Amino acid sequence: MVSPQENSVSAIEWRDDSLWLLDQRLLPLEEVWLQHQDVDAVVASIRDMVVRGAPAIGITAAYGVVIAARNRRNEDAYHWLDLVQQDIDALAASRPTAVNLFWALDQMRRALARLSDDEDPVVQLLREAKSIHEADLAANHTMGKLGAGLIAQYNMPARGVITHCNTGSLATGGYGTALGVIRSAWEQKLIDRVFAGETRPWWQGARLTAWELTKDAIPTTLMADSVAASLMQQGSISWVIVGADRITANGDVANKIGTYSLAVLAKHHGVRFMVAAPTTTFDMELSNGRDIPIEERGPEEVVAVKGHRLAPENVDVYNPVFDVTPAELIDAIVTEQGVVERPSLAGIAQLMEKPALH
Ligand code: MRU
Repeated sequence: MVSPQENSVSAIEWRDDSLWLLDQRLLPLEEVWLQHQDVDAVVASIRDMVVRGAPAIGITAAYGVVIAARNRRNEDAYHWLDLVQQDIDALAASRPTAVNLFWALDQMRRALARLSDDEDPVVQLLREAKSIHEADLAANHTMGKLGAGLIAQYNMPARGVITHCNTGSLATGGYGTALGVIRSAWEQKLIDRVFAGETRPWWQGARLTAWELTKDAIPTTLMADSVAASLMQQGSISWVIVGADRITANGDVANKIGTYSLAVLAKHHGVRFMVAAPTTTFDMELSNGRDIPIEERGPEEVVAVKGHRLAPENVDVYNPVFDVTPAELIDAIVTEQGVVERPSLAGIAQLMEKPALH
């Protein structure tokens, strides 16, 4: 298991019997940690994007269940398990698209179902939440190696990569999914520059990815999302590398809005397209991406920047925050259990049966 110390930035910590979240809404200008001791606050922090990124919200929800158990046991020693179920339902309703959230809550439900009488239930649940956290970090390091291996294997002449949104330490248990692959590829001198799309409307690329990469001294160029086509046309990009919020059984991928357009552009320009995501991001109950619930957020994210309104008062707004990239546009999905090239129903079914490679 990889130790959390190997992780240069962290966004989620359990200390002093509390969950602490780095407030990602304020980065990179301010680094403020918020202490959480009740479930309502954890739900609000997921919903309001204090913490974001598919694996990170799953990990946060797992710690949320620990907090729920502690508080509900104090409130009602006889019916606390029923009350915790209500808290789990509230955590599940915080955001709809990233399946890691529901996966982590299922893990915690299972831990609740097998609690032993020999030890404090809160201690047992905390152990489960910490193991979800550590396993995600370990999975990211494994994906980093496998993804870099794929880049080496294809040995494309261009040395630039494009990434979208933020898939780094901030979005995960540490190191990152797509950003983990990029970190690994940079260490192995397989790439020489990362082009980060700013990721409108929430600016995950400009505020978070640019922050993480520049902290690691990886050469990074920030660009408006609409620059990607022209950049690919110039021939300096070998790979687009992105994360995922939900991958269905056939290999369709929901990820941050704008991912699908990058995949279409990559296909047109002969640029390879990689998705890096742990197996906790797979939803094998959905046969294809059409059934993925896509979150829509409020108009204020589009009409204004940091509270400063730019658009006229009476304009209608459409603000879906994820899109679905069809499997046929994806060259490879990299997980901690292996790589599926040209993802298909059969390839993904085979992958999901394998054990983790770490
Ligand atoms: O709305 P967000 O910031 O939670 O969206 C995050 C993304 O879309 C990421 O690309 C995805 O969760 C993968 S993070 C490892």
